[in-house]
Amino acid sequence: MIEDCFILTKDDRKRIRRNFAEALIAKMEGEASSLKCLPSFLPRPSGTECGDYLALDFGGSNVRAMTVRLANGQADILRMKKMSLRRVGSLDYTSGDVEAKDLFGIIADLILAVVPDQKTVALGHTFSFPAEQLSVGEARLIKWTKEFAVKGVVGEKVNRLLAEAFARRGTDSVRPVAIINDTVGTLLASAYRAPDTTIGSICGTGHNTAAVLPDGMIYNLESGNFDGLPVTEYDLALDQMSLAPNEQRLEKMSAGHYLGKIVTLAAADKLDCLRAGAELTGEDLGLILNDGGQSLRTADLIERRTGTRISQSDCAFLRRLTRAVVARSAQMVACTYLGILDVIDPSHTEHHTIAVDGSLFGKMPMYAKEVERVLAEGLADVEATADLVWAGDGSGIGGAVAAALAETHRGERREYRTFAESMVALYGSKGEA
Ligand code: GLC
Repeated sequence: MIEDCFILTKDDRKRIRRNFAEALIAKMEGEASSLKCLPSFLPRPSGTECGDYLALDFGGSNVRAMTVRLANGQADILRMKKMSLRRVGSLDYTSGDVEAKDLFGIIADLILAVVPDQKTVALGHTFSFPAEQLSVGEARLIKWTKEFAVKGVVGEKVNRLLAEAFARRGTDSVRPVAIINDTVGTLLASAYRAPDTTIGSICGTGHNTAAVLPDGMIYNLESGNFDGLPVTEYDLALDQMSLAPNEQRLEKMSAGHYLGKIVTLAAADKLDCLRAGAELTGEDLGLILNDGGQSLRTADLIERRTGTRISQSDCAFLRRLTRAVVARSAQMVACTYLGILDVIDPSHTEHHTIAVDGSLFGKMPMYAKEVERVLAEGLADVEATADLVWAGDGSGIGGAVAAALAETHRGERREYRTFAESMVALYGSKGEA
């Protein structure tokens, strides 16, 4: 049966966990790896950072600007404005026709709408794409992901593009002082109240994870690019149809932007009506999973999308397939968390908080439970325990925490242990591991 190819066995899960740990160690030792491990230059917060900060959350289907009040472990969003970014008016951010200054102009306007009157405020920019961090306050875009394609941003300093947009508007009320990935933001937001947070992750439009590595710094792993996974013919087909084939393999098998496409491709092998270009979205998958016994809403949905009414047994097939694709995503993600824990806590003795933000984790039926189940399965025989927590708004609030950290430690040079030193501290001298 078609859906069976998406089922992972316990051995598959063990292999993914091991492959992920190996990819992380390889990167830490400077060898080839599908992970990027980009340094954020930020440690975890102490929880005592206080004040009002601006945060920009840019990177998914929506862009959000907010003012956040931080007070001893408690973060409150005072004002927030958001807009959809897939298409704004006639601008299509996936078309390759939009210029950097249009994009950052629109974003600067959104931020200015939440700036408190007459104030100059420090801004933390959560920019959720692979970016090479130059300092806490600046990063260069390495490549677009999630089908974004705006011109003139790859290779550029992203906060400079934002600062230039403010300059064109004649204002200096916003000081972009930090730029972080959304996974780093999620980790920071959670660690602000739960100091034992060691992993921050996004399961939304895209997928990626950050972790506190043994040197004490938070790294954006860009784990969406991890490739140590068993693939099906549908994953290969989807990859070839995407904007950047051969890249972001885990993301294309696990993130909200792609799950509907995988289900559509696989279902089309059985249901002719899905062959003609109609495509299911992540929300559609949620509806299919929540549908009642007679699958009436699923039949209505497919009829709306394709003009064909499918039978109850075909609806049941679609539901089994959707369950398999969604469960596989959750299981793969959980295996990557386990792989990280194997590296950062090799004796498995500590308690870890794993913070997750993103629509897939927050809204997709059974998703969070499945991640939790596989985590518990993987930690059943060891002392270490992990709490999987929902960090809603984490990527945005994390921007504010990053701005607070940047302001608190301005001018300081923080020394992190090198990877090599941390590896020795963890495993003894090389080879003894
Ligand atoms: C994509 C980006 C990554 C981001 C993730 C979640 O994988 O490359 O930087 O963290 O999406 O938004």
